Amino acid sequence: MNVALGVGGGIAAYKAAELARLLMEHGHSVQVVMTRAAQEFVRPLTFAALTGRKVITGLFPGENAADTLDSATEHIRVAQESALLVVAPATADLLAKFAHGIADDFLTTMYLAFTGPVVLAPAMNSNMWRHEATQRNLDTLRGRGHIVVEPEEGPLACGMVGPGRLADPARIAEAVNTAIARTRDLEGECVLVTAGPTQEPLDPVRFISNRSSGKMGYAIAAAALARGARVILVSGPVHLTPPAGAELIRVETAAEMRRAVLERLPEATIVVKAAAVADYYLAQVPSQKRKKSAARWSLELDPTPDILAELGQIKGDRLLVGFAAETENLVAEARRKLQAKNCDMLVANRVEEAFGADDNEITLVLRTGEVIELPRASKRELADKIFDYLLQLRLSLHAAR
Ligand SMILES: Cc1cc2nc3c(=O)[nH]c(=O)nc-3n(C[C@H](O)[C@H](O)[C@H](O)COP(=O)(O)O)c2cc1C
Repeated sequence: MNVALGVGGGIAAYKAAELARLLMEHGHSVQVVMTRAAQEFVRPLTFAALTGRKVITGLFPGENAADTLDSATEHIRVAQESALLVVAPATADLLAKFAHGIADDFLTTMYLAFTGPVVLAPAMNSNMWRHEATQRNLDTLRGRGHIVVEPEEGPLACGMVGPGRLADPARIAEAVNTAIARTRDLEGECVLVTAGPTQEPLDPVRFISNRSSGKMGYAIAAAALARGARVILVSGPVHLTPPAGAELIRVETAAEMRRAVLERLPEATIVVKAAAVADYYLAQVPSQKRKKSAARWSLELDPTPDILAELGQIKGDRLLVGFAAETENLVAEARRKLQAKNCDMLVANRVEEAFGADDNEITLVLRTGEVIELPRASKRELADKIFDYLLQLRLSLHAAR
């Protein structure tokens, strides 16, 4: 694989040489891009000798000492030809620029032009690491699906002891290989995802709904797209930007969601039902707005169709993933639901944790009986984990046949 290795201006820049060597050892060809600050710490020659390639040191021809740019739009070419971008050390400055889309040198411009997986290995002084600005930038970058290889704790060059040491290059190389393995592993799949709440009208202006934000479903759609799948996203009303490349079908009610899902089911190879579909609806919706009066308004609600159970009946070879948001007996409830609805995986989360937040703590219950607890992480990271386990599950289900 062509791997672009971005080197930022930190003391740990010298350790990036070891990373370049490891990546070469794993069979990758490595294009090193150094920031101007990085060149204050290590000379490009070190990387050129290790990788056997010219090192890119600037965006404009004059900035490249050895005339390393082959064309004026080299940053776009490198972005297109690289399978993965790894940045080590990722300085606080680079994290901020990536998070905010600032493109003022080769590496930051190339980052914006790059559409593949990104692995970031930060290294900095502990206070810089803990700073709210840095942590917020990291949240943004994790939310984009980038893998952050956490720095280690220990004595730092500045004399402090704490978090901020660049992770061991072997750990960074391992993260690169994991990310590469994920890149096209959903190619040929069509993932049908439902997301968000539904709204069930009570009259022309009122409705009942729930607190679902749609973030988990949208993260699943984004992860599937990044891994090469075609994605059909059936979404209830949410305030989110759909991931580029997803085919978006907007619905409001449970009945509309059911119709859309059943219509598109034949195309799908994987169905992920992350939507929080209303359980009850008002069958006879008055055509006029109900006027406010002193009298009590009693509503009799009917159950909505159980889309997940219906899918379980007709799913065939497709992988079916359901979600359970519970307030108690999480795993037992998830197990019961998995069996009752004939799902392959049930993602269980606590109501109070799940709704609206950018991160979550989830438990996966698999058809094989396995229960996997995933520690708190961004919904986008969890989405990738869900697909990792789902693909493994498919292999073990096939092997068991
Ligand atoms: C001796 C020295 C060591 C530094 N080490 C780090 C570091 O480990 N991490 C970091 O984020 N910034 C570090 N900096 C600050 C960066 O070099 C500075 O923010 C620079 O603008 C980063 O540029 P770049 O992000 O384009 O590489 C260091 C600066 C000096 C002078």
